[in-house]
Amino acid sequence: MKKILLLSLITVAMAVVITACNQPAKSKEMVKKELIGTFKGKDVFLLTLTNKAGNVIKLTNFGARITWIEVPDRNGKKDNITFGFDTFDSMIKGDPYYGSVVGRYANRIAKGKFTLDGVEYTLTLNNGPNSLHGGPGGWHSAVWNTEDLKNPKIPTVVFTLKSPDMEEGYPGNMDVRVRYTWTDKNEIIIDYTCATDKKTVLNITNHAYFNLHGAGNGDILDHQVVIKASRFVPVDSTLIPTGELRPVAGTPFDFTVPHTVGERIGENYDQLILGKGYDHTFVLDNKEEVDATVYEPVSGRLMEVMTDQPGVQFYTGNFLNGKMIGHGGKPYNYRSGLCLETGHFPDSPNHPEFPTTVLNPGETFKSQTIYRFSVR
Ligand code: GAL
Repeated sequence: MKKILLLSLITVAMAVVITACNQPAKSKEMVKKELIGTFKGKDVFLLTLTNKAGNVIKLTNFGARITWIEVPDRNGKKDNITFGFDTFDSMIKGDPYYGSVVGRYANRIAKGKFTLDGVEYTLTLNNGPNSLHGGPGGWHSAVWNTEDLKNPKIPTVVFTLKSPDMEEGYPGNMDVRVRYTWTDKNEIIIDYTCATDKKTVLNITNHAYFNLHGAGNGDILDHQVVIKASRFVPVDSTLIPTGELRPVAGTPFDFTVPHTVGERIGENYDQLILGKGYDHTFVLDNKEEVDATVYEPVSGRLMEVMTDQPGVQFYTGNFLNGKMIGHGGKPYNYRSGLCLETGHFPDSPNHPEFPTTVLNPGETFKSQTIYRFSVR
């Protein structure tokens, strides 16, 4: 009798274990939160998001950044394809922008000056004569708050920030909210929401670098790029727009059909010389669902970019020099990563002819960008 009881107990226990193993990841396992350090007196977390396909991305509230995107190649071999650092210290001391949210004004504002309603505002200069990416104390360098979400259906993380009036010279207290969702189709959906209590300007983006061979595995010159843009924004020698919106047709900037990054990057074309390669905003046609794609033929990895924003900054890592040592001890060398930073055009506050970047009190800025990963 005792033996039968024991056997039934073992059977029940085994059934429980098997059922538990077959269960989809529970909500608390979809997002794992670890404390990795403190910075500016605030806790810094690493958040590991696992989707139903078993693929992992990692985020941190330091700069609200993406620090790891691990997706399979066409043979199912997984690799991390975005720039980041292995340790808290190397992240704090490392390149300020890898994977971070950039604000208040992503890209450059000429001479760090703009005028709103007759008042001139002066920003911190940090890029030659210009202000870049919200200044040295921009949102990439802030420790954001991490909201604890109850029972999200898919892996989701929300970061929030209160950016005070006159931070780096920008008017208005701004409430910023960035939601990252990692879907079962390997899409990172980024939702931005911002509101201000004073008229101000805003251009928010994510500054992830991608190398679809795997971050640190060679350059991106063989990546095949499509950008659905008939025009781009030419710049001067300090990378400030001249005001022209130039048709891409017949130029090395025509990515309306696939071209590798390397095919024309060395051509003797004024904008490639001024940009030291591609470092330009493309004016999106916004006619199709997908605005840009990057395909890497060796691994078969494909990245699709979708946004509701008017532009995308295509940057081919022309300033990378191998000094930053990233994940797995690999240096990030010249042109070993590319960025597709969705948003508005550089220096729009000084170009009334560009789509406006003004945000008024009472308005809510909402925007979405999606990076989708698959194989071909
Ligand atoms: C990009 C910009 C580049 C460079 C980089 C940061 O957004 O287009 O010119 O400043 O950020 O190193």
